[in-house]
Amino acid sequence: MGKVQGTDISALVEEMTNAGFGHLEESILQCSDCALREGATNPVIMKGSRTPRVLFIGEAPGKTEDMTGIPFTGRAGKKLDEMIEYMSLADDDYAVINAVKCRPPNNRKPLKGEIEMCRPFLMAQIKMLDPQVIILLGNTAEEAFCRSKKLEWGIPKVSDGISIVKIYHPAAMIYQRSRIEEQKALIDKNRQLWE
Ligand code: URA
Repeated sequence: MGKVQGTDISALVEEMTNAGFGHLEESILQCSDCALREGATNPVIMKGSRTPRVLFIGEAPGKTEDMTGIPFTGRAGKKLDEMIEYMSLADDDYAVINAVKCRPPNNRKPLKGEIEMCRPFLMAQIKMLDPQVIILLGNTAEEAFCRSKKLEWGIPKVSDGISIVKIYHPAAMIYQRSRIEEQKALIDKNRQLWE
């Protein structure tokens, strides 16, 4: 894919978008632009509909996702499934992707440079999936998508006709039980975006 840090990625994103899903998947599988690929078993691309109304963006694959090659298939995935059920979304209503496609060692947060290197893939996926609503699962997803922190929890913004809202990462529901009710409140406040 070539080095992307500090460069305008729009032409690259356009090219990948025009080339279609198969080409994009191949490019992600072939990528070795950052060191994460060396330690990863499988790059993790997406799950769900290719015509979603709602697109969830997580952080990076964990151990289970690295083994399965499918996002949110471990403990955090169970919590995401519960959230999706609470949101009353059907299977073909949504898709799930990550900001970074390869697992960081010991599940550490992806570094800024790793997020940047993976960003053309993220932006091409968003263009191709063309959702009405993007749900950013936590601060890393926000940093990757917005390139900085711009959003308040649960307060949507519209960008290029897409409603963007940041809620808690599903893993927060595992480690902080008080977050469960807070998350439900953030979802309830935003239901009109996808209902
Ligand atoms: N956490 C994430 O952000 N993504 C996954 O795919 C799994 C856990």
